[in-house]
Amino acid sequence: MTILITGATGNVGRHLVGQLAAGGHPVRALARDPSAGRFPGGVETVAADLTDLAAIEAALEGVTGLHLLTALGSSNETLPNSAEIAAAAVKAGVRRVTTLWNGYRGPVEEAVEASGLEWTHLQPGEFMSNAVTWAEEIRAEGVVSEPFGHIAHAPTHPADIAAVGAAALTTGEHAGQSYLLTGPEALTVPDQVAAIGEAIGRELRFEALSEEQGRERMRAMGMPDEAIDYVLGWRANPPAWTAEPSGLVERVTGRPARTFAQWAREHADEFRSRP
Ligand SMILES: NC(=O)c1ccc[n+]([C@@H]2O[C@H](COP(=O)([O-])OP(=O)(O)OC[C@H]3O[C@@H](n4cnc5c(N)ncnc54)[C@H](OP(=O)(O)O)[C@@H]3O)[C@@H](O)[C@H]2O)c1
Repeated sequence: MTILITGATGNVGRHLVGQLAAGGHPVRALARDPSAGRFPGGVETVAADLTDLAAIEAALEGVTGLHLLTALGSSNETLPNSAEIAAAAVKAGVRRVTTLWNGYRGPVEEAVEASGLEWTHLQPGEFMSNAVTWAEEIRAEGVVSEPFGHIAHAPTHPADIAAVGAAALTTGEHAGQSYLLTGPEALTVPDQVAAIGEAIGRELRFEALSEEQGRERMRAMGMPDEAIDYVLGWRANPPAWTAEPSGLVERVTGRPARTFAQWAREHADEFRSRP
């Protein structure tokens, strides 16, 4: 009855591993470098690249549930071998699969739907954890500068995305569902900055960047133009649902979605100036 979690060291994957293990489910955590994860005792780890089909076939041995990333690495390229992975999952005896989308419904979702597995698609808008990218600026200058900061999102706590995934993987109640996941409140960047300031007891400022300034900064970080266009396009003109609290986390898990204030308190140390 093992559940295989890909992206196990990631923002969502590490919560999913922890929550399933806490619920008494046998878990196998997969990443290229699983040593980067601090998993609870009893969690099996496997070092494998999702593009290596033989390694994935081996990792699927004895597995009945699978959480599958749809995109890989920092360039977020679509998983190239999803049909083969879905076929390997069926052959291994997997019954349920969750997918974690990458902003659009693509070949991975199509492959698991065609496979005959019980699938649930997790389709979150912004993750609360995206705010960690502000940590350096906050620690150094007490500032967050972003383009399109006044456009609101309802970001979701990665632990809540994981909790919905855990429910889908451990009960038969969510098969065939595509869940648009949002957090409990619509927040602008200045709202989030204020919550982080509250968590660390420091007054922080928001500075609006122009689109061009945002583009230049991402270029300086080495992001390819295509990725920059995607990020800026999403920030400037996000789908309307991403700013609307969907209530889905509470409906699926039976408890209220975690707030951004809670996320900020949990991560306060990352935003505090270091001596
Ligand atoms: N951030 C957002 O607002 C947002 C919104 C919607 C959807 N998403 C999508 O959600 C997904 C997960 O996000 P996240 O923040 O949880 O991820 P993350 O923190 O960036 O972690 C990615 C995980 O995937 C693993 N990984 C990457 N390439 C791999 C490969 N070739 N083979 C095996 N494992 C690989 C990484 O471990 P190793 O490096 O050790 O392999 C890591 O465990 C991403 O696809 C992201 O695009 C994000």
